[in-house]
Amino acid sequence: MSLDLLLGLQWGDEGKGKIVDAITSNYDIIARFQGGPNAGHTIEFDGHKHVLHTIPSGIFNKDSINIIGNGVVIDPGIFLKEINGLKKFNIDLNSKLFISKRAHIILPTHKIIDATSEASKGKKKIGSTLKGIGPTYMDKTGRNGIRVGDIIEDNWLTKYDNLKEKHLNLISNFNQKVDISLDQLEAEFFEGIKCLKSFNLIESENYLNRSISEGKKILAEGAQGSLLDIDFGTYPFVTSSNTTSAGACSGLGVPPNKIKNIRGIFKAYTTRVGSGPFPTELFDSIGKKIREVGHEFGATTGRDRRCGWLDLVALKYSIQINGVTELNIMKSDVLSSIGKLLVCTSYTIDGEQVDFFPYDITSKDITPNYIEFKGWDMDITEVKNEDELPDELIDYIDYIESFVDVPIKLISVGPDRKQTIYRNK
Ligand code: GDP
Ligand code: IMO
Ligand code: MG
Repeated sequence: MSLDLLLGLQWGDEGKGKIVDAITSNYDIIARFQGGPNAGHTIEFDGHKHVLHTIPSGIFNKDSINIIGNGVVIDPGIFLKEINGLKKFNIDLNSKLFISKRAHIILPTHKIIDATSEASKGKKKIGSTLKGIGPTYMDKTGRNGIRVGDIIEDNWLTKYDNLKEKHLNLISNFNQKVDISLDQLEAEFFEGIKCLKSFNLIESENYLNRSISEGKKILAEGAQGSLLDIDFGTYPFVTSSNTTSAGACSGLGVPPNKIKNIRGIFKAYTTRVGSGPFPTELFDSIGKKIREVGHEFGATTGRDRRCGWLDLVALKYSIQINGVTELNIMKSDVLSSIGKLLVCTSYTIDGEQVDFFPYDITSKDITPNYIEFKGWDMDITEVKNEDELPDELIDYIDYIESFVDVPIKLISVGPDRKQTIYRNK
């Protein structure tokens, strides 16, 4: 009887979707607990490449139940598109996918507020995915939001109209023009609402706690990454939810004493999409090569992902905040043939050496201090066993493990489900 967590430890896009899909047969239930369609989780198998935004990444396993938990925010229009995109896989979605009545709904006007607010910030913009995430969580904490359970009540359209009216007032106060058609968004929204209503809308906290008592195994799938956490990330360049392990308790209604393993996922280097500080960012041909080889373009927005060296100061911080018990290193294949590799082990800030992730990395001038590793040239994408990996990669991995003092139990060497090396540590 347990709940395991799977979390991204950097700025998102670590490969969470791939790993959830790869290990999903070990679980009865996969549950998303925060975020919304700002997430893009890519899964590759049998020649298919599929990106999920709101639906948990366990959906391709025929035996597991998938839950969209109370901490998630749902855009009905995007949800409908996701459902339609899954049709070709012939999955019995109605019996496999349950949605929390407590999850909040992203309204068309939330997306317009997001775009207007970003436009008004000019150069200081967050680089939001513009999916309406921030405004929807603002309405949730401001106690104005509309929840999934509301859409089956008779008076729900009145609630919708009242909130929309408030939003339109707010938007007019920004004095910013954005090129978005509310009519079109509303048409998609109401089609999506019909689709949402056709699903099992449940008290998912009750379902999950009952399942735990019955001995079922649950995996909570995080979205975004720890450095985008609203409390512990690089504020204000963060998302609007708790992406860290505590978020799984509040986002699913499952108590902390039920959590067993906390699996932290990180790339062998670092990426970030959107604005905000990134101490180890590369602006040279190496950064460009990592982007090209690693296909580092946003799964949700298509934007270039910024690329840089692995930052162990940040990784150690994320491990501490989350209580990570096991690590998975992703995309090590992308570092083949890069030449020597650098890893950041401390920062210099105002002439002082700093070995923890500080409160403010936005306004300070931060110089990363690196140690150097020998690279490798071998193509590792077909490797099945750890013994066949180049010694230089094993040295790289051993160093990370000893620095953060948590075992790396999985090495990912390609995007496909099968390109995964499990270690017996
Ligand atoms: P998520 O948001 O954490 O699920 O990650 P994304 O799907 O946004 O981005 C990860 C990208 O890397 C996707 O295109 C994956 O298919 C791909 N990917 C995952 N693991 C690996 C790996 O080990 N090697 C390579 N080359 N690509 C990977
Ligand atoms: P997955 O789950 C990477 C980033 C955005 C922006 C900031 C705030 O695929 O790892 P928001 O739309 O939440 O208001 O944007 O957070 N961001 C992500 N970056 N992966 C994600 O999700 C992200 N979700 C949001 O780029 O900088
Ligand atoms: Mg992603």
